[in-house]
Amino acid sequence: MTPLDARLAARAESVTRRLDALLPEAAGPRGRVIEAMRYSALSGGKRLRPFLVIESAQLFGLSEEAALDTAAALEMIHCYSLIHDDLPAMDDSDLRRGHPTVHVKFDDATAILAGDGLLTEAFTVLSGARAHADAAVRCELIAGLARAAGATGMVGGQMIDLSPARDQLDLTGITNLQELKTGALIVFSCEAGAILAQAGAEQRQALRDYAGKLGLAFQIVDDLLDSESTPEALGKPTGQDEAAGKATFVGQLGVAGARDMASGLVEQACRCLDIFGERASILSQTATFVLERTR
Ligand code: IPE
Ligand code: IPE
Ligand code: MG
Ligand code: MG
Ligand code: MG
Repeated sequence: MTPLDARLAARAESVTRRLDALLPEAAGPRGRVIEAMRYSALSGGKRLRPFLVIESAQLFGLSEEAALDTAAALEMIHCYSLIHDDLPAMDDSDLRRGHPTVHVKFDDATAILAGDGLLTEAFTVLSGARAHADAAVRCELIAGLARAAGATGMVGGQMIDLSPARDQLDLTGITNLQELKTGALIVFSCEAGAILAQAGAEQRQALRDYAGKLGLAFQIVDDLLDSESTPEALGKPTGQDEAAGKATFVGQLGVAGARDMASGLVEQACRCLDIFGERASILSQTATFVLERTR
């Protein structure tokens, strides 16, 4: 295990513990939806977005604890997006993180509600004083997350991804789609660290630029894994993009071309961190991890 792997694992454990504490106990007549929310949020995953929140905050000297509720809120939104993405009306996937998807384990209606529940719970968490002592900072986090997750961000990207025009997109169109679908939440994860620390405009922009390149590289690798990996290794179905006839970077550029593009983006991402010097070493290692990951 590399030092970065160990750090990812330790942060993931902290995030899971915090999610466990933040999510209500599954009891009473509404217990089923809470059970489904907990099933999704506590079932593994790389926890990349919370990691980026915490590490971006640490760049400015903040502790893990100071960033943990914001990190957990980001992961709640991400888990909600996965639950809905897997539904029969969307990608119709039966496997997620090596387990049956929420709608398979429970049912479609419960999965829709569990996604809704996690989405709204994220904003409860961000509005709490534990997210940040200053209400103006909490407000900034809430507005930023709403923009990144909603129709101007992830939801908008998912809409394009599911539209019939999707298979006709050229490279520019695919880039725009991926920047919304995956990029927006990854960019906001890094920006959230800067917001928590009330960092200056230049530093904030540098982090946004880094995360924009990283997010794109991340989705290219997701598409590469969809085409090259196996469900056993990946913990989710493979071959779905090609089966659905989706235009992806892999489809446009081929496997080697897509990999070149991802590694070029990772190099560019790392250059955006130059202004931080050695302090940003974890974030630049994270970019390499994104490129080399196998799940
Ligand atoms: C998968 O995200 C969905 C995409 C945005 C491509 P991750 O690869 O981060 O999934 P987990 O959280 O590790 O399961
Ligand atoms: C979904 O992209 C991204 C989300 C916003 C959830 P994919 O459909 O490619 O994600 P996977 O491959 O199912 O994880
Ligand atoms: Mg999808
Ligand atoms: Mg999917
Ligand atoms: Mg995918």
